[in-house]
Amino acid sequence: MKLQNGELSKELLNSQTHIWNHIFNFINSMSLKCAVELQIPDIIDRHGAPMSLSELVKALGIKPERTHSVYRLMRFLVHSGFFVKQSLSTAPEFNDEEQGEGYVLAPASRLLLQGPLSIRPFLGVRKSRGGVQKNGLDVGNSLKLCDPKLNRLFNEAMASDARLVMSVVLEHCEGVFEGLDSIVDVGGGTGTVAKAIAEGFHDIKCICFDLPHVVDGLVGSKNLSYVGGDMFEIIPNADAVLLKWILHDWSDDECIKILKHCREAIPSKENGGKVIIIDMVVKAHEGENDLLETQLFFDMLMMTVVTGKERSEEEWAKLFVNAGFSDYKITPMLGLRSLIEVYP
Ligand SMILES: C[S@@+](CC[C@H](N)C(=O)[O-])C[C@H]1O[C@@H](n2cnc3c(N)ncnc32)[C@H](O)[C@@H]1O
Repeated sequence: MKLQNGELSKELLNSQTHIWNHIFNFINSMSLKCAVELQIPDIIDRHGAPMSLSELVKALGIKPERTHSVYRLMRFLVHSGFFVKQSLSTAPEFNDEEQGEGYVLAPASRLLLQGPLSIRPFLGVRKSRGGVQKNGLDVGNSLKLCDPKLNRLFNEAMASDARLVMSVVLEHCEGVFEGLDSIVDVGGGTGTVAKAIAEGFHDIKCICFDLPHVVDGLVGSKNLSYVGGDMFEIIPNADAVLLKWILHDWSDDECIKILKHCREAIPSKENGGKVIIIDMVVKAHEGENDLLETQLFFDMLMMTVVTGKERSEEEWAKLFVNAGFSDYKITPMLGLRSLIEVYP
């Protein structure tokens, strides 16, 4: 191909960069997985001060002659926003590549540390050799039957997300639960969300509703109970139904069926009935390209793993109308996800 002018060749070279960037994008996931498996975030956190490259290599138990590999991994992870470099207060033991600078955690790495809010279980599900995909439809339903290890990781991943999201909801969206005497968390797994609501609001009767094999043997408390069943058949009655990360797993027709059962389970709008959905509302946000891209990653995941999708506001509105609801309100304050209140 003969190049016409300087502009065109510049455009072609930019295109080449763009394509290579996408071809090698898997290196982002691989490097993150590598850092977590080596426990680099925990090691740097425990160090409690900027950690020099040589200190990190020593703590990792890696031979000094491989220092350069750790340096390159860390350079990549600094670039991707997982670590930050800061000046060292004392000179390193020997002159290493970082020349007087050490590593500290960037905010994103805090969620990679071991602990109740850790996102690490997601990495386990992700790397579990295509296990989720193999299970096909109805991830939650089939996991236990197909692969107990994947099922455990999946439940841990859901629970860590539930703890993070609920801490934000209870702190910033308290009003959502105002006036409710009862709430049923549909597809509530082992009850992380229901427990958080029950502990935050002693006067609200909370039900965690999920498939019988998920809730069998789980013990409730004064204002928390577990009920086994199928949301495609009937949903227990309550003032409000909560659907956190449920509808994105299902097709429009399936969502309408679930929402119709929700509608039957709650009182009228005048009597305080509502459905509370925590899910994504796909939207381009100015200056936040990462946000839209991550929503679109999830959409592709839903397309390949289950029958669901991530929906725009228009798509949500259509579902609500088709399921017989009259109105809705979106509160976009959960990062990628929003809190959507839907009224009969
Ligand atoms: C993606 S998980 C969401 C868990 C939880 N809501 C959260 O966000 O942490 C989907 C949940 O739906 C449950 N589920 C799947 N099919 C169901 C059905 N037919 N009836 C009730 N629950 C179901 C699964 O067992 C699983 O716990």
